[in-house]
Amino acid sequence: MPMLNRRTFLQGSAALGGAFALGAGFAARAGASPDPQVLTAQFADARIAADGVTPKVMTYGLGEAAHASMPPVLRMRKGEAYAARLVNRLDEPTTVHWHGLRIANAMDGVPEITQPYVYPGDGFDYVFTPPDAGTFWYHPHCNTLTQIGRGLAGVIVVENPDDPVFDAEIVLTLRDWRLGRGGKFIDPFKPRDAARGGTYGTVKTTNWQREPVFEAPAGGLVRVRIAAMDVTRIYTMALDGAAAKVVALDGNPVDTPFLLDRLDVGPGQRLDIVMRMPESEGQTAKLSNDRGSRPWTIATFRAVGTSLKRDLRDVGPLPGNPIAEADVSIAKRIPIELTATAEHKPTPSICGSLGYTFWAINKVPWPGDTPDPIAPIEELKLGRSYVLQISNRTPHAHPIHLHGLSFRILNSNKRTFLPPPTDTILLLPDEQAEVALVADNPGDWVIHCHIIEHQKTGMTGYLRVV
Ligand code: C2O
Ligand code: CU
Repeated sequence: MPMLNRRTFLQGSAALGGAFALGAGFAARAGASPDPQVLTAQFADARIAADGVTPKVMTYGLGEAAHASMPPVLRMRKGEAYAARLVNRLDEPTTVHWHGLRIANAMDGVPEITQPYVYPGDGFDYVFTPPDAGTFWYHPHCNTLTQIGRGLAGVIVVENPDDPVFDAEIVLTLRDWRLGRGGKFIDPFKPRDAARGGTYGTVKTTNWQREPVFEAPAGGLVRVRIAAMDVTRIYTMALDGAAAKVVALDGNPVDTPFLLDRLDVGPGQRLDIVMRMPESEGQTAKLSNDRGSRPWTIATFRAVGTSLKRDLRDVGPLPGNPIAEADVSIAKRIPIELTATAEHKPTPSICGSLGYTFWAINKVPWPGDTPDPIAPIEELKLGRSYVLQISNRTPHAHPIHLHGLSFRILNSNKRTFLPPPTDTILLLPDEQAEVALVADNPGDWVIHCHIIEHQKTGMTGYLRVV
């Protein structure tokens, strides 16, 4: 595994710079739209399972060339224009959603709501300026259980020139695969599980590898950006053999970095930690999933070289993002109730259907990408403050994601720690939480569960900001 220190990272981005990263920055400063980074959605054969090559994995490649590994980490810069051209080489429609980025509605990637389907052979140009720095991700918003389940999901790093520089940076994409004998895909879900906590994969991976090992400088401070992209799994992160501080959650800096000590991260969420590597060459630290009865290793970090002798106490807060603070005293309250619903057949959709409806928001089930959108949950006035009163009336956890707007958790009957503003709240069973936001981004913004079977069987709605 290559060690990614600041120097190799800079060389890497300089090599890309002619075509993409730097080009984007210069063009933006010159006021023009940057050259698009071409993202080709395509099929590939990839080695994921131990017992065979998996055919018909879906991935994104840069440019038009064939690509057989995980989608690239896209690097953008806070406040600078970025452009991507999606080229669809799959055999079904797709789109790209930029999860967590507060960008213009027309760039949000939701078919029927914000843009047309991108059919096979077609493309779509995205151009936007990310307002916030941090760790985000991108994925389709069409036939999501199949497309994300087969591989279409990658990390976005929005850099901030004011961020502190660490000795290394490691990006981890966490996900499972539903593979059977010989590494072949099996049915993406079981209806009885979709009506409960969701269907789990059979092969667990980090960066499309089983239990990978990463090298990093001994005694160094390493920023680890972790994105939970699985369609179902909730992780409880624990670290052994090293100490780490949590510096950001879902892209936004925590006010006071705190020691990582078991933290739940649900589908769609991100966790940024700064880890102090062990002191001597060859020593390892392990990030594990401590949920359930049998913990397992997500990633191993191996110290290399002579100790850099860094101190975790030197890690302070990252610079914040410009998220408006809601005025809770005058905010209108909007109830959002998550429930199970009587089972019925949904209407067929160009973006696929699981053939079942199990869930609803405010009693209305909708899979989120059909040509018969429901009415918005509520119409919000541009610039006003709102409090969403989200009630989970089910015995299952639901990571609820809102597009285009970030919100702050005000209170909850289930938690004492209130995280920084977020785009995804992992609601615990029977949790009731109030979250506040300023409706400062106009458009129709989808809100849905990021357990994709729940999304696709009804737990989706949208807020309209006008
Ligand atoms: Cu991560 Cu509606 O998506
Ligand atoms: Cu859910």
